[in-house]
Amino acid sequence: MTVPPSDRTTTEPGLTPPPGCPAHTATGADGVTRLFGAAAATDPMGLYEKLRATHGPVAPVLLDGDVRAWLVLGYLENRDVASRSTQFSRDPRIWHGWKSGEIDPTASPLVPMIGWRPDCVCADGEEHQRLRGAVTAGLNQFDQRGIRRHITRFAHQLVDEFCERGKAELVGQFTEHLPMLVLTHLLGMPDEYGPKLVHASRDLFKGTETSLASNAYVLETLEQLVVAKRALPGQDIASVLMSHPADLTDEEVQHHLRLILLAGYETTANLMSNVLRMVVTDPRFRGSLAGGQMTLPEAVEQVLWDEPPLMVCPGRWATGDTSLGGQEIKAGDMLLLGLAAGNVDQAVRPDPSTRVHHNRAHLSFSAGAHECPGQDISRVIADTGIDVLLTRLPDISLAVPEDELTWRSSTWARHLTALPAKFASRSPEAHDVLTPLPAPPPPSSGMPTQPQWPASEPELMRRPEPRASWRAWLRRFLRRR
Ligand code: HEM
Repeated sequence: MTVPPSDRTTTEPGLTPPPGCPAHTATGADGVTRLFGAAAATDPMGLYEKLRATHGPVAPVLLDGDVRAWLVLGYLENRDVASRSTQFSRDPRIWHGWKSGEIDPTASPLVPMIGWRPDCVCADGEEHQRLRGAVTAGLNQFDQRGIRRHITRFAHQLVDEFCERGKAELVGQFTEHLPMLVLTHLLGMPDEYGPKLVHASRDLFKGTETSLASNAYVLETLEQLVVAKRALPGQDIASVLMSHPADLTDEEVQHHLRLILLAGYETTANLMSNVLRMVVTDPRFRGSLAGGQMTLPEAVEQVLWDEPPLMVCPGRWATGDTSLGGQEIKAGDMLLLGLAAGNVDQAVRPDPSTRVHHNRAHLSFSAGAHECPGQDISRVIADTGIDVLLTRLPDISLAVPEDELTWRSSTWARHLTALPAKFASRSPEAHDVLTPLPAPPPPSSGMPTQPQWPASEPELMRRPEPRASWRAWLRRFLRRR
């Protein structure tokens, strides 16, 4: 997968398009529905259902700039498109829109999502296997216990930063930081680059005036990582990519590092925010967790079904004329995987309120040859991080009325902008932490300075195992209310 581009629409006050802006209009030429703009941002799930009712499992839609595509809404049709790579290619160069002038490749915000790059996402067949083989070797070298130890350490550090205050903004202070700290560590960067890259990546996604500089910062940092790891390899993803028999060029290594960083960061942060929002807003969800009817991994899976971190996944391109879900697809047409729509298709979930328990057959990580190779890492980050937070702050609750929560929406994803929480003040437990996390750079200070390589890795910090289960705490807390 690629990276969500700058958000074009938002439900945040003050950031909605001005009246008269075409983004307000729900349809374009020939009455085709726009998958962008205020109408699409306000209620994407409602929009998918309307499209399903009108067109069936595959619907014509318009992307930013009124670019034409097919949105796949059916569960089985999504699996079909994702799995039949000879008919639905992952290589965007076959799209007819490049030749017809439907898009301006130098200015369209779609390009980061649908443009070609030398990475496994944009490749099919043997070339895909060559590149993906190196990526999976890099990701699979870590054992789950080792990763869990690092996640636990980082999560404790983050909680230590705010636990004395009795309040925190969980998106900005927890869920957006933890995945980046873990990923930079796995990639082979010194821990202190996590906060700087969080800043740069968030800026890149938001499409602010400094987002190009942020993108350049991410790329330059990765370029330097490649140089440093060529000189001094370690036990990390960067070193495995470079030494893998697939014989990746430096450019390919750099693009795959960027892919792993950006594909894994935003989605995992999103997943964690969505789970925590359910914990602090839905008494039934929280009660099931506290009462042991639902484990934390099950809660994560439930949220993956109900609120996929990536709602729409670009893209596949038809290699020839074909029919799909009753629609005539022409060679070179663009198709989008409607992961969120597929997950609530009546064909597989007649009653979406029924709990999914251990069922992992959702589409949130896609399917077929490109199915997310980082899904276990994202699950372990979410499970472990949330477990640490709830163990340390079992009385955590929402600090604002639920209807004050806001989202930032794009065609591809929906992000909670803030999750203010309160809890009883507690002392930090960081007596064994050797190096505190540096503060992220202030938003107005421009881009962070370039890293100095090689940098030494901080010593491994050990944390005591939590003494009491947070479930026991939570059960007592709920009984008191
Ligand atoms: C909740 C978190 C995540 C979600 C929802 C997610 C979702 C996805 C999806 C939907 C795809 C498939 C794209 C397609 O079919 O075209 C994908 C691919 C990919 N993901 Fe993830 N991802 C997550 C976390 C991660 C993490 C943590 C990593 C790395 C550590 C990662 C690395 C990748 C890579 C390298 C690909 C491309 C695979 C290929 O093209 O063969 N993802 N992801």
